[in-house]
Amino acid sequence: MKYPKEYLDEIKTRLKVSTVVSKTVNLKKRGKEYVGLSPFKTEKTPSFTVNDEKEFYHCFSTGEHGNIFNFVMKTQNLKFGEAVKTLANLAGMRPYTFTKQDEEREKNWVEYKSIYSKYVEFYHNQLFKNSLAEMAKNYLKKRGLTIEEVKKFKIGFVAKDLDYYEELLKEFEEKKLKDCGLFYFDERKKKYVERFRDRIIFPINNISGNPIGLGGRILDGNKNLAKYINSPETAFFKKGSNLFNLDKARKLSNKVDNVYLVEGYMDVIGLSKNGIENTVANLGTSLTNRQLLILNQFFDHIIICFDGDDSGYKAALRAAENSIIELKPEKKISFLFLPDNHDPDSFSNKHGKEYFIEFSKNNRVSIHKFIFEHYLKQSDRNPSSRAIFEKKLRSISSTIKDEYIKKYVLEYFLDKISELTPHINNKNKKSFSRAAKSLKTTQNYYNETKSLKPIEIKEFSFLYIALKKPELIRDNFHLVQNVKLFSNENKLIFDEILKHTNDFQQIDFDNMKVDQNLIDRVIKYASIKHILAKNYDDDQKILEILNEVLRDLKNYELEYRISELESKFSKDLSEDTFNELKKLKKQQNIN
Ligand code: UTP
Ligand code: MN
Repeated sequence: MKYPKEYLDEIKTRLKVSTVVSKTVNLKKRGKEYVGLSPFKTEKTPSFTVNDEKEFYHCFSTGEHGNIFNFVMKTQNLKFGEAVKTLANLAGMRPYTFTKQDEEREKNWVEYKSIYSKYVEFYHNQLFKNSLAEMAKNYLKKRGLTIEEVKKFKIGFVAKDLDYYEELLKEFEEKKLKDCGLFYFDERKKKYVERFRDRIIFPINNISGNPIGLGGRILDGNKNLAKYINSPETAFFKKGSNLFNLDKARKLSNKVDNVYLVEGYMDVIGLSKNGIENTVANLGTSLTNRQLLILNQFFDHIIICFDGDDSGYKAALRAAENSIIELKPEKKISFLFLPDNHDPDSFSNKHGKEYFIEFSKNNRVSIHKFIFEHYLKQSDRNPSSRAIFEKKLRSISSTIKDEYIKKYVLEYFLDKISELTPHINNKNKKSFSRAAKSLKTTQNYYNETKSLKPIEIKEFSFLYIALKKPELIRDNFHLVQNVKLFSNENKLIFDEILKHTNDFQQIDFDNMKVDQNLIDRVIKYASIKHILAKNYDDDQKILEILNEVLRDLKNYELEYRISELESKFSKDLSEDTFNELKKLKKQQNIN
């Protein structure tokens, strides 16, 4: 049994090699390629490269190379058929089962594809030949299109005096023509007629670039008809699973990590004409999660840029609430709103590429910010309105599937809400105080130390060892050189100690250029002092104690940086921040 080439090609088109490989190998981007440690051999320096453009991986130390199928077969020890199943699943495709139905479907697909490409080709050529198409050509010119865009998007015109049905019937069965949605049966005329009659047609391609559906626009002036119509859904054209221009835009995914999602065909074409080609449109229906998932196979950052009118705003809000459910840590969704009722087509035509991109950089808002600000605008200062507001935001964040995103989006919302409630906020505001354990023994002592932060007390212990045993510090300088202290006073003392570590004896406290009160505090509160006194001559033991203190300090620093990053991540939801966070958390576990 052989998989149809079509099916295998679609898997390859949908999955970047780096997407597949990065499931098992940690890849870093280097120029056009990715590099990582070879999965075929233990090694310390990366010799394994992945090239998405050329669709292969290569391991320089073992000579292994191949495509995604080879990779999965080799690394997971699978047979070809099993690798295909695994990858089809990863690509979000149905499994190929080699049943009669599958074979039938495959045959139908080959015919369907052929009907559509003939049709598209025919009416595209007619645009240049047919005399009735003159109007359409003028219209396109008026809209600012040149021959280049017309050819690139294979735009066509179904002139009134033409009918391609009879021609196709010479080659295809009636049922096949009926099923493809290009014609419908006219009861009055008792024959099949052109669905897109008198319309400019925009071919909608599947991911591999084969036309599978059409969008059709009336020429201006025909007010009784819908401005746009689409092909009906067929066995091979599902509106919620396809995007206009994805076949071309996806090829840019090796160069840019973002994609513009716009409302209309003309927006895509207008942006493309102005040099912004990483653009797709959904097909006159609301955005589906399937479409987002497909986009995410190629782009990490989706910028939703709908029309700057009421209906564009409403569609954006609907898209935001739906798509936040599926948001993943390494992915990002932003919204860009255009001024003055512009749509992306008119805006990019007016201002050009540079301005559009600059405007996009400065004005897009993250999905969580957009949602927050929308509901804030809806609410006023009275308590019940604010309560509804908070409940709504909590309920939106509770729909999010990914646990991390859920946590940080909620954190972001609550943070912003607390800015609206300054009184409650001040009372509850906690300074950062998760910290190292201190060895406090009596209540009395506890009261005295209460005003000190636990981290300060831990730092006192470190400084105390350094003050009492400078030679130990000098001999183990590598252990302490990167210690980070949080209290500025303690930093002063440590700097001073470092200056003295070259003297061979104990530090002369009276001669230190630091306020004596600060030193006294260290000596008074260092919880370590009794243990140190007991082991004063046992350098080995003191070294152990020092190491323990250093580990506590390091952990504190880690916790602090993690907490900083967590709040950064809750604002930018960026992949870099998340990876940094992951790294730190891993370190924390090791310590
Ligand atoms: P718009 O009316 O904003 O399209 O509809 P546009 O691209 O700006 O149109 P032009 O510039 O007047 O040609 C956006 C999208 O909504 C769908 C189409 O997919 C269209 O591209 N739509 C619009 C329909 O499906 N039916 C309609 O009647 C209108
Ligand atoms: Mn529009």
